[in-house]
Parts: sequence; C-alpha cells; structure tokens
Amino acid sequence: MTVLNSSVTASAVHETSLYGASLGRRVTFRDLLEAKVHGQHWPMLTSYDAITAGIFDSLGVPVLLVGDSAATMVYGYDTTIPVTMEDLLPLVRAVVRGSKQAMVVADMPFGSYQSSVSAAIHAASRFIKEGGAHAVKLEGGLRVVPQVRALVEAGIPVMAHVGLTPQSVHALGGYRVQGRGEDGQRILEDALALQDAGAFAVVLEVIPADLAAKITQALTIPTIGIGAGVNADAQVLVWQDLVGLTPGATPKFVTPYANVGEIITTAVRTWCDDVVNLKYPSADQSYK
Ligand code: KIV
Repeated sequence: MTVLNSSVTASAVHETSLYGASLGRRVTFRDLLEAKVHGQHWPMLTSYDAITAGIFDSLGVPVLLVGDSAATMVYGYDTTIPVTMEDLLPLVRAVVRGSKQAMVVADMPFGSYQSSVSAAIHAASRFIKEGGAHAVKLEGGLRVVPQVRALVEAGIPVMAHVGLTPQSVHALGGYRVQGRGEDGQRILEDALALQDAGAFAVVLEVIPADLAAKITQALTIPTIGIGAGVNADAQVLVWQDLVGLTPGATPKFVTPYANVGEIITTAVRTWCDDVVNLKYPSADQSYK
C-alpha cells in the first residue's frame, strides 16, 4: 500500500512538472517560460555523446547542454578556452541524434562570438544548421547584449550565462565567487539587459545564493543555477561531476550522487586480470 501510494505520488508530480513529462515532441523555450510561471523547478545536464544523451532524455531531463566544458571533460584541456567549433559540432550532432525530447543547447566556444555580431551569427548558425541544435548559449553580460539581440532577431534562441564565466577565467583572476557586495548589482543589471535583448534563460554560475534569489525574482525568464543556491528556477551540473567521474578536486556545490569512477575502475581491473589469467573469454563466451 505504501509503495503504491508513493509511486502514484511520483507520477502525479511528473505529470505536473516539466521534468519527466512525456511531451511527444522537443521541449521549447516556451515550455521553460511556462514552467517558471507555474513555479516548476527542472534539471539541466551537460551531455557530449549519444549514449548519455539517450539516458538523460529517457529520464525526461528537459534541457541538455553540449557545454564548452567538453574542453576539459572530453578533450583533456585545463580550461574551456581552447575548444573550437570544429571540436564541438560533432558532439552537438551526437547529442541531438541520441535524444528525442530534450532541447539541445550548443555552447558557443571562446572566440566564436566576442569579436562581432556577424561572427556570433555565423557561429551560432553553424550549430543550428550543421549541428541540429535548438538553441545556443554564450557567456557575458552587457558586452554581449548586441550579439544576443542579433541572434534572437536572426531566429536563434539564446541562453545567457553570467556570474563566473569560465571563458574569462584569466580576466576574473581565477575561478572565484562573483557578485559579492556591490558587484551583485552589476550582475543583476547584466541579467536584466540580457532578458531585454531576448535571451530565453540565463545561467547563474557561482554567485551568492541571496543574489541568485533576487535575480530569479526580478526576471520573467528562467534562471539556471550552478553554485548559485537553491532558489534558481533550474539547476545544471556537468554530468561527470554528478556521478563521481571527475578526477581531482571539485567545487563545493558538487556532491557526487554515485561513484562511477570506482565502478569503471573495478570492472576494467577485473576484466584485465581475467584476460591475463585466461579466464576471459570463457567457453560459454566462445563460438563453436
Ligand atoms: O560548459 C558548461 O558545462 C557550462 C555549464 C557548467 C553551465 O557552461
């Protein structure tokens, strides 16, 4: 009886939530705006390949971000700065192919949009046209407002990103909390300007929770927090951080929900031992 009740409750929650909903079509920015109106919170995850995209999509994660974090998570760089359009385009295509319902957002790499509006339109169009992405994301506040406005006018939905913007790590003097004290007002003004320019959502990265709550209240578009406290409209994580696959130290907002790194290590070590000891393949695993 208890089990039945809890499963009924869970599915009822799914029916009234964007997360886990079965739409029979791709999520659009309108669904995200509606979720904000109804006070629904939702998860967003990075994905860089068809298999994880399929898993996250089948769970009903409404938005998948092909982040420029692929620089570190896929390509082995130390920062997100070196990754290029040519690096990201195949990953965007894989995530689109691997998913059915999620909105796939392609992250504009460093150098692809800062120099001019026409550079931004050229790069973003490639993600939409050649990659099949449904939206793009770019980092920055007031200085990228012309790019955001032009992309939206060109018919490309834009997710904005303020606070700790990792592509500016050198200008920021490291990966530090942004928006403490008076700087908070600047980030609020950035977010309002990006909304006015037509962005459909804004990522708030590593800012004080109170500031994120204030921005979330001030905006009509959804905020997506990462290291920004519980009051953002949505939360995003790099999927390898979530499952304990990221080596080394992680920021304090990352608490792995599994230890997949250890699971892979054990499985691979066991298989290697079996190979060395002629236990793999067994007779049953061999053809006659
Ligand atoms: O590239 C990325 O993964 C991101 C998220 C962390 C927001 O920008």
